[in-house]
Amino acid sequence: MSIAHITDAHDDTSDVDDTELQGRAALEAWVERIAALTRPESIVWCDGSRSESDRLTKQLVADGKLIRLNPEWRPNSFLARSDPDDVARVESRTFISTTLEEDAGPTNNWVAPDEIRTELDVVFAGSMRGRTMYVVPFSMGPLGGRLSQLGVQITDSEYAVLSMGIMTRMGARVLDLIDAGTPWVATVHSVGAPLEPGEQDVPWPCNPTKYIVQFPETREVWSYGSGYGGNALLAKKCFALRIASAMGREEGWLAEHMLLIKLTDPRGRSYHIAAAFPSACGKTNLAMLRPSIPGWTVETIGDDIAWLRPGDDGRLWAVNPEAGFFGVAPGTGESTNATAVETLWGNTIFTNVALRDDGDVWWEGLTDTPPAHLVDWRGEDWTPDSGRTAAHPNSRFTVAAAQCPQIADDWEAPDGVPIDAIIFGGRRATNVPLVVEATDWRHGVYIGATISSEKTAAAEGTIGELRRDPFAMLPFCGYNMADHWAHWLSIGDTLRFDRAPRMFQVNWFRKGADGEFLWPGFAENARVLGWIAARVAGEARAEESPIGRLPLVEDLDLDGLDLTEETLEQLFAVDVDSWREEADLTEEFFSSFGSRLPAALSTELAALRYRLALA
Ligand code: PEP
Ligand code: NA
Ligand code: MN
Repeated sequence: MSIAHITDAHDDTSDVDDTELQGRAALEAWVERIAALTRPESIVWCDGSRSESDRLTKQLVADGKLIRLNPEWRPNSFLARSDPDDVARVESRTFISTTLEEDAGPTNNWVAPDEIRTELDVVFAGSMRGRTMYVVPFSMGPLGGRLSQLGVQITDSEYAVLSMGIMTRMGARVLDLIDAGTPWVATVHSVGAPLEPGEQDVPWPCNPTKYIVQFPETREVWSYGSGYGGNALLAKKCFALRIASAMGREEGWLAEHMLLIKLTDPRGRSYHIAAAFPSACGKTNLAMLRPSIPGWTVETIGDDIAWLRPGDDGRLWAVNPEAGFFGVAPGTGESTNATAVETLWGNTIFTNVALRDDGDVWWEGLTDTPPAHLVDWRGEDWTPDSGRTAAHPNSRFTVAAAQCPQIADDWEAPDGVPIDAIIFGGRRATNVPLVVEATDWRHGVYIGATISSEKTAAAEGTIGELRRDPFAMLPFCGYNMADHWAHWLSIGDTLRFDRAPRMFQVNWFRKGADGEFLWPGFAENARVLGWIAARVAGEARAEESPIGRLPLVEDLDLDGLDLTEETLEQLFAVDVDSWREEADLTEEFFSSFGSRLPAALSTELAALRYRLALA
C-alpha cells in the first residue's frame, strides 16, 4: 500500500515519517498517525477471537447498544436499532476522489483529492475523543488465496468491529501476512460522535454530516458520520467493490456486484455461475435457491460480491471475497428463502428488525401472519393495525456464510472456482425476455452495460422509465463506467474463446398486459438455470433473434407449472418497435460517456438496430 500519499494528507498531525517503513512497522506508524488525528481514549488491536467478540457484545448489551435475543430461540444473537436517520447507504455523500474528474466518470460523485482531504482533516480531527479506536486487520477471500487481498479498518464503532468479524476473515492471522510484506488497503471509519468527559453515550452514535470517500489511486477509504453497514463496514462496498474494481483494472481482474453459485444437474455435473443484479432484485434469494425441479441442486458461494480473474488455462476464475451475508430481512421467509431463514438460527446480528415479546425477532415476510404485538425497529409498540411496518424496509441480518446449510464445498477454494456462465438481470416489466443468451463475449458486455430496471410499465407497447444500472455497479464502480466496459472487453480477449463463460440476460419481472408478473420466480427460476446449464453442456438448442439467442420452449423444463401458451409467448416476445425505442434510449445513455465509450459498444448497438430492421 502507498503510505506516502496518506502521509502527505496528514503531515501536520504527526511527526512520524513512515514512508520508508514496511510490514508491521508501516501499519503501526499509520495507526499512530490516525490516532494523532482522531485522538481516541485508547487503541485496541482486534485478534478476531471468540472471546473478543463475546467481550464486545457483553459490553454493548450493558451499554444499551445491543439487545440480546432470547438464547432459547436465537443463541448468541443480537438486535441493534440504528438512529432513524442512519438506515442505508448514502449515495449523495459517497465520493470517488481521483486526480482527474474524468477518471471517476459521469456516474460517480467526484471530488478533488486536495479539496476533500482538507475537509476530512477537519471532521476527523478529534472525532474519536472519549472512544476506543479499534484496529481491524482483515482478508478479503481466503487467507493467502490467489485472488485474495488484505485490508485494515480503523473504526470507533464496536458494531462495525463485530460486523467485520462476521463479514471478513478478521484478526491476528492477517497481521502475519502483513509482517511478511503483503500489501494492504487502508480504511478509516469514525461515527463522528466524540464524547466529552462524563458525557452519556447514545445507543447508535452517528453524525448528520456524512462522508464516504474512496481514493482509488492511493487505495484508501475514509468514512465519517454513519454506522450503517454499507457506509461503515468498509471491507464490503467501499473496498471489495469501489477500490477493488480500480485495482482490478490496473492488474487485469474484475471486482463485481455478483452472486456466485454452484449448480449441479441430475447427472451430477456441476456448473459455476456468477450473476449481477441491481440491489433489491433478489440476489440473496437466487444465491440460496432450492430448485423446484427434481435432481437439481444449487449451492451457495456468495450473495453479493465476486472477484474474477483470468487463469493460465484461459478460463475465468472467481472467489467470493466476503465471509458473511449482510442481507435485507424483509421479504426473507420460509416460502421465499428458507435457506436464509435456516442460516439465521444463531450467531446473527439483526439491525432494525422488530422484537417479539418472547425475545425473538420478526420482520415483514418472515411469516404470513404477524405476531399480535411487537416492538418496532424504532423501539415503539406495534400491532398489525399500527399502519406502518414493524421492521425498517432496509433492515438487515449479518451472519457467517459458513452457517448457510447449502454453502458449497468449494466456497473457500484458494484459487477460486472456474466460471461457466455469467448472468445479467434487472427488473424489467417490458421487452426483456425470461432468458436470452448473448451471441458472444462482446454482446454479453453490451448486455451488462445496458442493465436497467423499470419502475412501472407504461401503456402497452411502450417502455416504462428506465433506471440504468450498468453491470449492477452504478453505485459501486470506483472508476469511469465506460472504462469499466472497456476493461470487460479486454478481459474477454485474455480468455480462451472456447473456455470463456457463456453470457445470459434474465428477467424474472416481466409483466403481462394485465400488469401481473408472467413468471412465478423464486424456486422456479431453477428452470432457467437448467436451460443455461444445458446450453453450457451443448445440450439445448437456441433460436436466433434480434436481441440474442432464445430458448425453444420445448427445451425448457416447465413440468408442473401452470403457464398458458399466451403467457409463454409474452415471456419470450420480442416487440421490434419497442426494442427500437429502447435502442434510442440506449444511444442517449451511451452518449453521456462521450469519447470514453468503447467503439465496440457503439458497434453492438448498430448491429442490434440492423437486426431489428431486418426483423
Ligand atoms: C448496503 O446497503 O450496505 C448493501 C449491502 O447494499 P445493497 O444491499 O444495496 O447491495
Ligand atoms: Na442499501
Ligand atoms: Mn449488493
